[in-house]
Amino acid sequence: MFSNSSQKYFSLLNRLKYSLYKFNISERNFFKLILNGSLPRPHYALGLFLSASLASQLNYKKISIIEFGCWECEGLMDLEHYTNDIEKIFDIKIEIYGFEGGEGLPAPKDYKDRVYQFTEGEMKISNRSFVKNLKRSQVIYGDFKKTVPEFLKRKDFAPIAALFNDADYFFSTQDSLKILNHKNKLPKVFLYFDDLNFSSSQTGELGAINDFNIKNKSKIEKIPEFAETMSLFWKKWIFLGKRFFIHHDFHHDLYNTRYHNPFYKNL
Ligand SMILES: C[S@@+](CC[C@H](N)C(=O)[O-])C[C@H]1O[C@@H](n2cnc3c(N)ncnc32)[C@H](O)[C@@H]1O
Repeated sequence: MFSNSSQKYFSLLNRLKYSLYKFNISERNFFKLILNGSLPRPHYALGLFLSASLASQLNYKKISIIEFGCWECEGLMDLEHYTNDIEKIFDIKIEIYGFEGGEGLPAPKDYKDRVYQFTEGEMKISNRSFVKNLKRSQVIYGDFKKTVPEFLKRKDFAPIAALFNDADYFFSTQDSLKILNHKNKLPKVFLYFDDLNFSSSQTGELGAINDFNIKNKSKIEKIPEFAETMSLFWKKWIFLGKRFFIHHDFHHDLYNTRYHNPFYKNL
């Protein structure tokens, strides 16, 4: 089931297109649904699609998709929904993890947390939370500062293929990106950042990306021409294309393995 927020944006016509798709399931047809703007929370569908496409071409049999900042788990509900579709298209199993504090935004540390825009305690989980509706996600509660290092010690998760970052703050995003230090990941991990708008390059999620790039040999980079390519399809949503990045692990064993860009393969 889609989340409540997504259902509000899911028009009758688009529901019909999605129902018809179920009679004609294919990689190409699902990609068209995304590109034509027929699906709600299209950026989640797209990030999942792109990472699963890469993973299956590199012969991975399972991958992990992670959301940082889940609040009441609506994003995870939509990820679960799309995971069911994507597993039918690509020969791959998908694990979903969510990291969330549960107490709302923690106390900001300094100006880098964009205190002009966010406040401590905002988005505290209520009894409306959809966590009980989740069927296949594992939600890990606690501050990322503690839960990410704990996760890094684990060896029982599928290789990381995509991160959806929605934690607002610089310091929270900085802690979340440490997950990329784990070896168990794809050579290219797709990253979506929800809160870049009106930020400085030194603050918020954008600041955390720049900080990561200063401290690491691997790099988080914008996808060149991605938003422009998406603009051919997502007329109203070009800005979503600008929120996608790739983490490049240049020295990964599979970094140089040839694969096909889904945009060329499916259009
Ligand atoms: C914008 S909300 C997430 C919304 C959610 N992705 C959705 O689509 O409904 C941001 C969430 O990040 C969480 N968060 C921010 N910093 C955190 C941290 N350091 N550790 C754990 N959770 C954090 C907050 O508790 C809040 O619920």
